[in-house]
Amino acid sequence: MSTNWIAILDFGSQYSQLIARRIREQHVYSELIRFDTPAEELARRCPAGIIFSGGPASVLDAGAPLCDPKIYALGIPILGICYGQQMTAQLLGGAVKPGRAREYGSARIRVTEPDRLFKGLPSDLEVWMSHGDQVARLPEGFRSLAETDTCPVAAMGHPGRRIYGLQFHPEVVHSPQGTEILRRFLFDLCGCTPDWQMARFIVESVDRIRAKVGTGQVLCALSGGVDSAVVAALIHRAIGRQLHCVFVDNGLLRHGESAQVESTFGQAFGMDLKVVDAAALFLGRLKGVEDPEKKRRIIGHSFIEVFAEEARARGDIKYLAQGTLYPDVIESASPIGGPSATIKSHHNVGGLPPDLKFELIEPLRELFKDEVRALGRELGLPEALVSRQPFPGPGMAVRILGEVTAERVRVVQQADLRVQEEILKLSNYADIWQAFAVLLPIQTVGVMGDSRTYENVVALRAVESLDGMTADWFKVPYETLGRISSRIINEVAGVNRVVFDISSKPPATIEWE
Ligand code: XMP
Repeated sequence: MSTNWIAILDFGSQYSQLIARRIREQHVYSELIRFDTPAEELARRCPAGIIFSGGPASVLDAGAPLCDPKIYALGIPILGICYGQQMTAQLLGGAVKPGRAREYGSARIRVTEPDRLFKGLPSDLEVWMSHGDQVARLPEGFRSLAETDTCPVAAMGHPGRRIYGLQFHPEVVHSPQGTEILRRFLFDLCGCTPDWQMARFIVESVDRIRAKVGTGQVLCALSGGVDSAVVAALIHRAIGRQLHCVFVDNGLLRHGESAQVESTFGQAFGMDLKVVDAAALFLGRLKGVEDPEKKRRIIGHSFIEVFAEEARARGDIKYLAQGTLYPDVIESASPIGGPSATIKSHHNVGGLPPDLKFELIEPLRELFKDEVRALGRELGLPEALVSRQPFPGPGMAVRILGEVTAERVRVVQQADLRVQEEILKLSNYADIWQAFAVLLPIQTVGVMGDSRTYENVVALRAVESLDGMTADWFKVPYETLGRISSRIINEVAGVNRVVFDISSKPPATIEWE
């Protein structure tokens, strides 16, 4: 790793990821690391700058998380944000006290010293505050650079040592000049060059993967989704035929998904790919099952069983590749829990039998979802795959309410195909988190020609969402709704009615099961 990167020590702020994000948007690589990372390790990895994030703790509490104080002596520029500023003040001999009033939300600061961090910016800035404690006495050699009516040290700095602190959060959009302040830290104080891009990430990852794997063999489960596809493409770039991909076709996939995986990875990329047709096994086990959680359990266990069998059959596998992303890593890490805090890096392997002990390769651990998509494009994956919407692990089984049968899978796949084709034509397609068809467990009366029909109902679900945690129903234009409805009813045998789901999450969920 070059020295042109920023280390962010994570003290547990809800905004820590956002800091990393803002920095990478400036084309400087940044990585979130543990708050207790030793100074020696930082010296070895030699970042151009170090940021201490905010965090929920108070430095006044016993057991508050603290950085290794030797970091201040490394001579690397430092920026402490919120808790990071308070900790810096405390560790360097200043003092922190509980603020008279908690400041939460928008505030205005007056810049009193337009030092390098604020150079060229207006002296009156809107910023986002979220803190209780504040710096009461500056450490020796530090100066206050900005203030508010209630907070005399809204920013502090020691220009000689290049150590700075901000009481507010420059990384959030509610601090309109925040990016400018971060840019001054990156480029003026740390001397970074804005040259980080995906092409470089690929070169560095390929080197790291080769160094780790050597002549070993790697197994990767493709799911048809973006993350596993990008992982496979990246590892294949590094080690070619030492990578072995397994794709389990459980018979519950989207229309044409298995064929697309085969043509992309097997043919276009020339990967060693094994497609396991396990549709009969999965559907057999789902026979008569209506309970959604039972369906999930059966599918999860069956997947592990099939995959484990493939892994055992090869016998020579040392590594397992996984598409773990940054949010997965961070959400499960607790910086307050100390060095023993578990990081849920094994959560995707969960359930593999104990005789299968693999070392993990997780090359996307530092990336956000949209960065993964950009990486996929750079690696030459087809756009249809890269921009694909999330798809639940249990697949169509949770979009078929009631019993899952081969015939009902066919109906929902065919209906879903029409939904995808029509939705893709919308100019704001990118704003849709997911759009799909759900097959309901009821039949309704219709009329076709002169005859009465008694057939299935399909529900259309389309939502916008940032992360799948909350969602609003997507305002699909009437014309598109009309086309989807008439195409499904006319072209998919067995459906005579289409309804549109207008529930938000909460209280509904995105999937119907
Ligand atoms: P819900 O329905 O909980 O879905 O609002 C939120 C997001 O998660 C996906 N989802 C799943 N993904 N296994 C998965 O891998 C599952 O069992 C599962 N259930 C829901 C869903 O598609 C949405 O993006």
